[in-house]
Amino acid sequence: MIGKLNHVAIAVPDLDAATALYRQTLGAKVSDPLPQPAHGVMVVFVELPNTKIELLHPLGEKSPIAAFLEKNPRGGIHHVCYEVADINAAAAKMRADGKKVLGDVRTGAHGKPVIFLHPKDFNGTLVELEQA
Ligand code: CO
Repeated sequence: MIGKLNHVAIAVPDLDAATALYRQTLGAKVSDPLPQPAHGVMVVFVELPNTKIELLHPLGEKSPIAAFLEKNPRGGIHHVCYEVADINAAAAKMRADGKKVLGDVRTGAHGKPVIFLHPKDFNGTLVELEQA
């Protein structure tokens, strides 16, 4: 069912330092910081030949990654995102297989429909599925 790895999202405590790490130290193509207030994050996109890395930093009062950074003060992998052809079919299959879907299908950070799957069902990893 899943296709390409769309992105790996990494929560970072210092966005400037993380940007420098990927741009200067690792020599990657890195975007400017893009505020995504609807998602409570500031994002820097790292473009790799085969996928993207998203550096996430909390934005605003109710950021979904603030608690994650409290538990992981040095940062850490927040989620991985796999592409699917049909998000509603994917959500139905996950529920039919007894997997916990967090909330409903929503519009993700790229303007495409996504769902999130609970880490308890996926080896401790929060999984995002995005309709490509
Ligand atoms: Co994501």
